[in-house]
Amino acid sequence: MIQIAPSMLAADFLHLSESVETVNKYADIFHLDIMDGMFVPNISFGFPVVEAIAKVAQKPMDVHLMIRHPEVYIERFAAVGASMISFHLEACHDPEPILGLVRNNGAKAGLVINPDKPVESLFPYLENCDFILLMSVFAGFGGQKFIEETIVRVRTLREEIDRRGLRCPIEVDGGINPQNAPLLIEAGAEILVAGSSVFRSSDPESTINAMRGL
Ligand code: DX5
Ligand code: ZN
Repeated sequence: MIQIAPSMLAADFLHLSESVETVNKYADIFHLDIMDGMFVPNISFGFPVVEAIAKVAQKPMDVHLMIRHPEVYIERFAAVGASMISFHLEACHDPEPILGLVRNNGAKAGLVINPDKPVESLFPYLENCDFILLMSVFAGFGGQKFIEETIVRVRTLREEIDRRGLRCPIEVDGGINPQNAPLLIEAGAEILVAGSSVFRSSDPESTINAMRGL
């Protein structure tokens, strides 16, 4: 089953409840981008916003940490209701204990890589991941152009996951729209993050359904 995860970074923060409503009604997952201005050159939002969304969210919250020292904040994001938490392989020396920490806090653990990191760098950790997040733009900003090479990367990763008989969904994030979504799904992606294409659409429901292939 394909899941669509609108990125709340592209929401209208003055009218956040309308964006929350869009996800609650038509999509599957809230994708929440946390940026610290250090790991990436941008700052997004933090706990007060996540807590506000949590109060009304009827779909699971997926926290994408683009921060240094992710291990410091995992317990707090789990406590405010994140059911999926991912962090960047580029942000840590040894992801194993951090993946364990996420799971011990009751959330699904995901590892993320930027487009310039070989997918093979994830292979040693696949057994300990509940999902993988492949960036299809460089982490840090919404509204960037989809990097086409991502499709081959999804296929390579999918083949390795299937070869080992693992159940590890692939999530893809950045520049996703109804045009490139079918290519990602065909290559083996199961969770599609989409910010601008959903929230800049005049008809978010149709855009979400189009990405599902409906
Ligand atoms: C980029 C974020 C993405 C981004 C997606 O650093 O991780 O989740 O908000 O937004 P669009 O769909 O606009 O590329
Ligand atoms: Zn993201």
